[in-house]
Amino acid sequence: MFKGRDIISIKDLSLDDINVILDYARRMVPAARGEENLPLLSGRLMGRLFFEPSTRTKLSFDTAMKRLGGGAIGFSDTSSTSVKKGETLADTIRMAEAYSDCLVIRHYNEGAARLAARFSSKPVINAGDGAGQHPTQTLLDLFTIREEKGRIDGNHVVLAGDLKYGRTVHSLAHGLALYDVEVSLVSPRGLEMPGEIVGTLKEKGIGVREMNSLEEAVADADVLYVTRIQAERFPDPEEYRKVAGSYRVDLNLLDHARDGMIIMHPLPRVDEIAPEVDTHPSAKYFVQAFNGVPVRMALLDLVIRGGDLDG
Ligand code: CP
Repeated sequence: MFKGRDIISIKDLSLDDINVILDYARRMVPAARGEENLPLLSGRLMGRLFFEPSTRTKLSFDTAMKRLGGGAIGFSDTSSTSVKKGETLADTIRMAEAYSDCLVIRHYNEGAARLAARFSSKPVINAGDGAGQHPTQTLLDLFTIREEKGRIDGNHVVLAGDLKYGRTVHSLAHGLALYDVEVSLVSPRGLEMPGEIVGTLKEKGIGVREMNSLEEAVADADVLYVTRIQAERFPDPEEYRKVAGSYRVDLNLLDHARDGMIIMHPLPRVDEIAPEVDTHPSAKYFVQAFNGVPVRMALLDLVIRGGDLDG
């Protein structure tokens, strides 16, 4: 079902696929914490090709592979690679797939991961392509909601921030469309969720509200998912300056929130969540970042070996 499969967009996965991955990720948690030895990928190599900066995705994929007894090769900065000499993406992919058992790619161009998959006979995992998709982030986001709230169905999820350029919220919206949830969208003017994604949510029967007030949105929210304004994706820096710092989650905002609401953020944050919130019981963004390890362990084992802990 998963062996050899590319993971390019959350839209390529069915609800059953997602449930298999989330269940398998739960089984990986003790090994992700270093409490269990689980060398399922001993002798296997992950090729990690990062054309764009990353902390969490890179480190958690590396950790995931190592926790499963495998290794990683690759780069996180093209300045020391032959990309600088003009090597094409296709040739870089052909080389990396010859040296490894699966490829994990992050690229600044939307569509680059799908293009990479055309040139690789080994499974390709999209670790973020421009303003496009970030499917493994969505899987760890869904895992976090399920672990923290007990289930995904029945929750009111508020997506707040840069909904235009934020690939994490684009992916997550498509993932949530598979569940019985309500979604509210809160963004600065000009950074609204693309109409095509709002349309998909509505077509799937999801109740969608678009609003400007974070206070109003959190009053009946179960999950507040905050995103950074993606300065690097603005064609005009002046347009970024107009919206930078236009909203902030702090303890005053949490006075308006429903009991039990959790706060998530894919990170990195700039100033959209005040540090005072970090120790509040609602703050789950660091747990969420840890969850990237068991989720990516599950995915790597599924696409490289086909999964099955008993196999
Ligand atoms: N959430 C996320 O993709 O973080 P990084 O950019 O640090 O990988």
